[in-house]
Amino acid sequence: MKGVILAGGLGTRLHPLTKITNKHLLPIYDRPMIYYPLETLVKAGIDDILLVTGGNNAGDFLRLLGNGKEFGLRHLNYTYQEGEGGIAEALRLAEYFSDGDSIAVILGDNIIEKSIRHAVNNFKKQSGGAKILLKKVEDPWRFGVAELKGDKVVNIIEKPAEPKSNLIVTGIYLYDHSVFDFIRGLKPSDRGELEITDVNNMYIEAGKMTYEVLDGWWTDAGTFESLYRANSLAASHKQEDQS
Ligand code: DAU
Repeated sequence: MKGVILAGGLGTRLHPLTKITNKHLLPIYDRPMIYYPLETLVKAGIDDILLVTGGNNAGDFLRLLGNGKEFGLRHLNYTYQEGEGGIAEALRLAEYFSDGDSIAVILGDNIIEKSIRHAVNNFKKQSGGAKILLKKVEDPWRFGVAELKGDKVVNIIEKPAEPKSNLIVTGIYLYDHSVFDFIRGLKPSDRGELEITDVNNMYIEAGKMTYEVLDGWWTDAGTFESLYRANSLAASHKQEDQS
């Protein structure tokens, strides 16, 4: 299984912080944001990784991460997304890299406490399809909200005005290779993006989606409030580790 980190987009919700640098290079406590998703994949046993980035500061990722030696990697792959056409558009750039293999995808601004190794191993045991990781949050309207029936996800609604539950889809997705066929069938949403939620709903309609609820805390870091929260969670976690 290969890994893909999506760190494109222009991070305009964080202006002026992102006027002169990429959102994923901003600090989360004692490390740049991009360290966290990279570490999440490595800790899950994934060592063949592609980083998709974009904007004016793409070269800084190479200067910062090189071949990923600090993470125990021998090699790190990079590609460039022009503009910000959406998460699914960024993921499309990983088709050549994935080369028929299944992929673990993580959004560059998703920070988690615990390992996803167990979910990755469970996904490897299922016969293809996809797996998403869900989490209960207090502000579900900011995310893709999952609707469950029995032990199945039956629908995901992206940023609903009136969420039916507080169980949201985190930015960690496990896909078989058919994800790229699904992406080819997408049309841009009202916000002009190729939406990952549309891809996930396609897997649901095909009866090929499973889910797990993520263990430990989870946060994104794409708004001032969530960036602040990510910093505070990462700081407490580090202090707990040291005590
Ligand atoms: O964090 C989880 C949420 O992420 C999910 O619940 C939503 O369903 C999903 O749509 C997404 O929502 P956001 O609106 O928070 O996504 P955002 O546009 O902030 O992008 C998140 C990351 O995805 C960003 O840090 C980098 C990557 N990305 C995004 C865009 C729009 C790209 O690589 N390229 C892009 O064009």
